[in-house]
Amino acid sequence: MDAEPSATPSLVRALRGETVRPAPVWFMRQAGRYLPEYRELRKTASSFLKFCYSPELAVEATLQPMRRYAFDASIIFSDILVLPDALGQEVWFVQGEGPRLEPITDPSALRFDDFETHLAPVYEALRGLRAALPAEKAVLGFCGAPWTLATYMIAGRGGLDQWPARTFAARDPDTFGALIDILVDAATRHLIAQIEAGADAVQIFDSWASALDETGFRRWSIEPIARIVAGVRAAAPDVPIIGFPRGAGTGYGDFVDGTGVDGVSLDWTVTMEAAKQLQKSGVCVQGNLDPARLAAGGPGLDAAVAHICEALRDGPFVFNLGHGISLETPPENVTRVIEIVKERTAP
Ligand code: CP3
Repeated sequence: MDAEPSATPSLVRALRGETVRPAPVWFMRQAGRYLPEYRELRKTASSFLKFCYSPELAVEATLQPMRRYAFDASIIFSDILVLPDALGQEVWFVQGEGPRLEPITDPSALRFDDFETHLAPVYEALRGLRAALPAEKAVLGFCGAPWTLATYMIAGRGGLDQWPARTFAARDPDTFGALIDILVDAATRHLIAQIEAGADAVQIFDSWASALDETGFRRWSIEPIARIVAGVRAAAPDVPIIGFPRGAGTGYGDFVDGTGVDGVSLDWTVTMEAAKQLQKSGVCVQGNLDPARLAAGGPGLDAAVAHICEALRDGPFVFNLGHGISLETPPENVTRVIEIVKERTAP
């Protein structure tokens, strides 16, 4: 038997353009608070960031969903906000509320001096994770996209319309551009280091792409991500890159063409007709079950999963959610979805 092809994770094969049957499946935020074993483990660290920077805890949290479920890929347990933290901006998490940052107005205050040392525990966790999982299970690294990171760095917290970053970018595009440039550099270095530590593929989360107008989307989402993709490809030409411009709507096609990503993660508002068009252009599509349907369960969930699988199984496809799993999700609904995906995308 030839061991080589089967050792390449199914996720990587799909991202390289293969139609893989059954389709690979993983979920954004597959580790986390909806799992009782995560809530138990989380108690052992005094803060969320300390948890992220403890390689042993991060590896364990990443492995929890891999033990429970037949996922084909694991995403390293960390957060997009480790980048501003590593650049010297103060970041903390308020229990039950979310992230807080000391808002910045002057990007020249950010520093790369401590960057790699600060993030070393993330890379150590990736090495531990790669060693703990069989070769056919993919390990994913990730980062936040410059625009999405900037929304948190400027507002000092999460928001719904990203008004602080939008007005900042509109009033002073030069200073905003300087911040984006720093984040392109930080994200590129972080992704390359994660690949060197064992990541088989990486995902770039532009969770707030939805807040940008046409010009802003091109300048602050597509162009910076294109630079990150080029930088990562120069260092690691064979490692696939997934982009997630959440809420990009009719802009998904421009995003794929403009960034050159290998895979595009689709939010749940994207129709199967639009997803098939993207797939035909050669990109691997990932998605896009509504996390609310996963939380609700029942026959509506089964039908929604089948609908996605039937539309996308004949081309490069990775089953995922349209956004992260919600903490109110009953863990057994995840088992059910994976079963249906494997059935509906069987060879
Ligand atoms: O399993 C995985 O997907 C890996 C871990 C992961 C986390 N955050 C862990 C986490 C990943 C990939 C992220 C990405 C992330 N973080 C994004 C992009 C994806 C998205 O959701 O749009 C964003 C915007 C963040 C920033 C962030 N981190 C917010 C807004 C919050 C608070 C909201 C919440 O769900 O609590 C976090 C905290 C966070 N990141 C938690 C986890 C498991 C919860 C905190 C805890 O467990 O104490």
